[in-house]
Amino acid sequence: MSVTITALEAENVKRIKAVEITPAPTGLTLVGGNNNQGKTSVLDALAWALGGEKFRPAAAARDGAITPPHLKVTLSNGIVVERRGKNSTLTVTDPTGRRAGQQLLNEFVEVLALDLPRFMEAGDKEKADTLLKIIGVGDELAALDRRIKALYDKRTAVGQIATQKKAYADEMLSYPDAPAEPVSAIELIQQQQEILLRNAENQRQRDRLVEITHAKHRYFDEMQRLDERIEELQAQRGKLQASYDEAAAAETAATKTVAELQDESTAALEESIRNVEDTNRKVRANLDKARAEDEADEMSTQYSKLTEQIAEARRQRTALLDGADLPLPGLGVEDGCLTYHGKRWRDMSGSDQLRVATAIVRRLNPNCGFVLLDKLEQMDLATLAEFGRWLEAEGLQAIATRVSTGGECQIIIEDGRVKDAEEAPAPAPAWMKGAF
Ligand SMILES: Nc1ncnc2c1ncn2[C@@H]1O[C@H](COP(=O)(O)OP(=O)(O)O)[C@@H](O)[C@H]1O
Ligand SMILES: [Mg+2]
Repeated sequence: MSVTITALEAENVKRIKAVEITPAPTGLTLVGGNNNQGKTSVLDALAWALGGEKFRPAAAARDGAITPPHLKVTLSNGIVVERRGKNSTLTVTDPTGRRAGQQLLNEFVEVLALDLPRFMEAGDKEKADTLLKIIGVGDELAALDRRIKALYDKRTAVGQIATQKKAYADEMLSYPDAPAEPVSAIELIQQQQEILLRNAENQRQRDRLVEITHAKHRYFDEMQRLDERIEELQAQRGKLQASYDEAAAAETAATKTVAELQDESTAALEESIRNVEDTNRKVRANLDKARAEDEADEMSTQYSKLTEQIAEARRQRTALLDGADLPLPGLGVEDGCLTYHGKRWRDMSGSDQLRVATAIVRRLNPNCGFVLLDKLEQMDLATLAEFGRWLEAEGLQAIATRVSTGGECQIIIEDGRVKDAEEAPAPAPAWMKGAF
């Protein structure tokens, strides 16, 4: 159960002469008045009573007062806090008889609730850290943020390389007519050698034909010579006739073969050998271009993948904050800074700043059911009413000061006293009746 302030009595504290206040149990209690009348002194008195020595005002005792400061705060849990005497000694009385003293107060008094400006003036990062501490997802969020940044940096680098590679590939020359593979000069020469060997074989057969023909002629000549001696060489002639027949047969066969022989041309190969260097230069150029294009494509693919990963990490981040138990719907942390409905602190309206600060400070110590707010001048009446309704809905008590003597203030402080104190309690202002 949150503790709220039921009543304050203060005498001779700073600008206060004598003040008795019973703030509304929840919602907004406005302490109004002109400048230098003692409004802030009322909040200072409350802070000193509840926050301990570190909230003791520099000049706590009112100038010209005969008696020392006296403070008495009654709380909703029945505890009574008093400061009295020459040294403003603290007494904490617990009706249940539990231990007393500042330690007991510290259980339900949130320091930032006594000193909201300290939260409001903290840096963006400090505010965000406070929120993350409350909702308990700080480590996970920081890890996701680091991952998003790393992915983003990597994608930027990959994107630059992809663009460079593509530009490089586009600039490179290409030869659509060149073969896909480099041509081997050795292979061409080997083919040429094989043809030359086959041609040499052909030549050998041609030479053989010539030899055979020569032999035939020689045999014929011999026969003529031998014809003269035919009679005595009849026997020899028979043998020669056989040789002649054999040669004639061989001649016929060889003639037929030779007639079918056809020499292959090496002209195309010679041309290829001459062009091999040029062709290979083009082949290499085409291969280089294709490789550069592949690399550019690969980089583009990586870029798209990283984009998906960044989107996924961002989804996780949103889900993490959506799933967290936030002190106020719409709160978030972006780039390590506190946001409310996507806006940074400096872009929030004054009333949103107050609402955000109040909600966060409230969650810091849920036992503390009140918050003190100085200088609510910047809120117009409609905003005040809306803020008041929100506080009520939250079950939160706010005691605030405002330079105004208008009807929106339940309490008016004048010259260190509550104006028209005899007519207590002050009636609720008209705008509030309509509002609630
Ligand atoms: N110990 C003190 N005794 C008397 N006057 C004081 C003391 N401390 C501050 N003051 C005076 O109180 C006035 C401010 O009081 P404060 O409560 O801040 O007024 P408000 O908030 O209504 O403007 C100043 O004029 C300041 O000089
Ligand atoms: Mg003031």
